[in-house]
Amino acid sequence: MVTANATASAAHPSGTRPSKVLTLESMNPNIRTMEYAVRGAIPIKADELREQLKTQPNSLPFKQITPCNIGNPQQLNQKPLTFLRQVSALMEYADLLKPEMIETTRKLFPEDAIERAKRNLAYVSGAAGAYTHSLGIHEVRQNVARFIEQRDGFPANPNSICLTSGASGAVERVLDMLISSPNVGVMIPIPQYPLYTATLTRLNAQAIPYYLQEEDWQLSIGDLEGALAKARSSGIDVRALVVINPGNPTGGCLLDSNIAEIVQFCEREHLVLLADEVYQTNIYTETNPFVSFKKIVSQLGSQVELFSFHSISKGMIGECGRRGGYYEAVNIDEQIMGQLFKLASVSLCPNVMGQMAVDIMVNPPKPGDQSYGLYQEEIDGIYQSLKRRAKKLAEAFNSLPNMTCNDAQGAMYLFPKIEFPQAFIDEAKQLGQSPDSVYCMRMLESTGISVVPGSGFGQYPGTFHFRSTFLPPESLFDEFINGFKHFHTDFMGRYSSSPKI
Ligand SMILES: Cc1ncc(COP(=O)(O)O)c(C=O)c1O
Repeated sequence: MVTANATASAAHPSGTRPSKVLTLESMNPNIRTMEYAVRGAIPIKADELREQLKTQPNSLPFKQITPCNIGNPQQLNQKPLTFLRQVSALMEYADLLKPEMIETTRKLFPEDAIERAKRNLAYVSGAAGAYTHSLGIHEVRQNVARFIEQRDGFPANPNSICLTSGASGAVERVLDMLISSPNVGVMIPIPQYPLYTATLTRLNAQAIPYYLQEEDWQLSIGDLEGALAKARSSGIDVRALVVINPGNPTGGCLLDSNIAEIVQFCEREHLVLLADEVYQTNIYTETNPFVSFKKIVSQLGSQVELFSFHSISKGMIGECGRRGGYYEAVNIDEQIMGQLFKLASVSLCPNVMGQMAVDIMVNPPKPGDQSYGLYQEEIDGIYQSLKRRAKKLAEAFNSLPNMTCNDAQGAMYLFPKIEFPQAFIDEAKQLGQSPDSVYCMRMLESTGISVVPGSGFGQYPGTFHFRSTFLPPESLFDEFINGFKHFHTDFMGRYSSSPKI
């Protein structure tokens, strides 16, 4: 009989057996090299400082961490929508709907929340804790299809919709399908939301950058053509284009004319189009209303292969932790739809309560329903407040030396550009770090405000930015802005002798 020890020493005869099988050296190198700045060095440091404040509250020049690094509204006290939570509560503890409890329940919950919970429980045969269909509950997908039809004025097929645990899962799944070799390339915007570069690194594929134009954050078809031609001439098999609209981190919203040009470009160049539309209800401008890629594809009668993504994490819902989202697949080959179903089946099913939140997002209370008034009031209150905060923060950034910032037309972020003094750029170089990272770390250490350096999203060479959400609550907004202004003015003052200012 061969013992485990004997086997081990046979494999490592010199006795040099490493203590662990899984080490930094042996692990999947694609994951080792993958980066995700939104939860990178600065938020990690912010967590450390948060812990420090718990045990030594007076040890830092600020009293709390202000997490502006991530679009996570409820972390900054955004109130969840009452109807969504009422339905979820009733579904989670369905005993409240039993005949012996229902009278008590009626005193606490409105009738339409009770009816919705009963209906949604019926979709899952009463079992909110059971696996569902791998593509998501059929009735919820039907509601998503109706929502898309009403939004765009064109038909949508429930069988082309796949519910997922957040839009991230949907994006990863589609990229998984597309990448068949390390030579496959996907065009991504710069700046971009780092889910895309991270996933392409993990899948060992090529990210082909195209730059957004900072004056209005629209896409230049000439730039797309240039980036594509360059990649193809170096032998890369470019298969897809990612567009984020409204933009993260830019806050830009694409005009319908620009969307039409992008669709035609993809069709001409034989590219699958990935439209990330998770911020579709976060629009603060009259001039650039949200128009979906699906609508333009339908209007043009285009045959372009399209995946569009949506989520419950953003908008006025902000249920990031519930993990709900979906993709709609348009003009996708039937056999690929089958493969996508197989891929979804391997993860069994998306989060059930996330699916339920998607259902409420796409099918909210209607006029005449008991909860309609409150639902609208809550949505409008959050929307107006986001709009005010976006404007106020942009004004603050634009009032500062060496800083310019486009207004947020949409999404939850501002992406101000900073003109750093040469002396500081040299100092950062000596530290072996990018100047925007050093600036953001210093901001955190002196104000407790955690933002993400522009280099985490990519930026036009030679320019520097950071991304900040405008999510701190209005009651704390002036304090947040003043803290930032003080830091920035002080920072620039220190380098004011630099010849570049
Ligand atoms: C552009 C964009 N796409 C996708 C996501 C992921 O969203 P989810 O929470 O639904 O996974 C985010 C999250 O911030 C995002 O900004």
